[in-house]
Amino acid sequence: MKKVLTLVLFASLTVGALAGCGSSSQSTGGSSASKDTKPSIGCAIYKFDDTFMTGVRNAVADSLKDKATVDIVDSQNSQSTQNDKVDLFITKKVNSMIINPVDRTAAGVIIDKAMNAKIPVVFMNREPLPEDMKKWDKVYYVGAKAEQSGTMQGQIIAKYFKDHPEADKNKDGVIQYVMLKGEPGHQDAELRTKYSIEAVQSAGLKVQKLAEDTGMWDRVKGQEKMAAFLASNGDKIEAVFANNDDMALGAIEALKAAGYFKDNKYMPVVGVDATAPGVQAIQDGTMLGTVLNDAKNQGAASAKLAEVLAKGETPSKDNIGFEIKDGKYVWIDYKTITKDNIKDAK
Ligand code: GAL
Repeated sequence: MKKVLTLVLFASLTVGALAGCGSSSQSTGGSSASKDTKPSIGCAIYKFDDTFMTGVRNAVADSLKDKATVDIVDSQNSQSTQNDKVDLFITKKVNSMIINPVDRTAAGVIIDKAMNAKIPVVFMNREPLPEDMKKWDKVYYVGAKAEQSGTMQGQIIAKYFKDHPEADKNKDGVIQYVMLKGEPGHQDAELRTKYSIEAVQSAGLKVQKLAEDTGMWDRVKGQEKMAAFLASNGDKIEAVFANNDDMALGAIEALKAAGYFKDNKYMPVVGVDATAPGVQAIQDGTMLGTVLNDAKNQGAASAKLAEVLAKGETPSKDNIGFEIKDGKYVWIDYKTITKDNIKDAK
């Protein structure tokens, strides 16, 4: 009797499984994943060799684990390579895409391709132009307000100079600073550069720019540029603004080589991102402060949007867990990080 029951049970399970298999037809371009299959999502990162984007990439992969089949590819900092990757996603008939553009002004081309294939697309970290965002209702953007991060950096520096009048080394009542910029044209580079300085000025302090150059978000380039700034300006520099932590850490290396951070020789340096090495530098007392760029939530929001869109559903706060502004934007807040609240970044 027991044997018969087992057989009947086995037979019905097998039939059930086969039926399930039959109904989970191969997903096709433009159509959403069927209820029985995991949606497939294509994700292209502007380049894998970027500290902050590695955090976002890991968060995307983590959030989609068990929920979707996700293919994450490296665009190697080339827009044409990225376009090829997008073409491949379309050929493979993915159900949605997450794109971190190499050149944000090239997003329009990607949107046209996605729209033709009816594959919804979520952009992240590099904001497409508003006119491109308006091309199709199945285009979303997840990012952070760059001006907020710049303002926070400026406030850290302003507070430091108010608390430490001796930081005005030449006692001229003006902060002489240098600026390490990220990639020109990137909204985070342009707006952090502008708003950081405006925040210092609106705190009632005067500033004078001694030098500005791009370190392209890169630590080694940050170090080289800072070494050049020190060679031409020497002890005149009173503060260092860097558009991200990697360049700030490079600058700190150059400053160390010039005798800073020992024997009472100090330089206030601020970055953005709150990467692990950035937070460590704050702990060590070499970096004055940074601004948390929340890789975890930016990755999670992009993943959730892509998953919901891949299933053919309409994203809302209820099904993605993040507020959607103007029908297509998810904004993740920045947070000021200094030694006082360092645990918030960990
Ligand atoms: C910024 C980040 C930089 C870099 C850049 C890449 O938001 O602060 O470190 O990752 O994105 O687009």
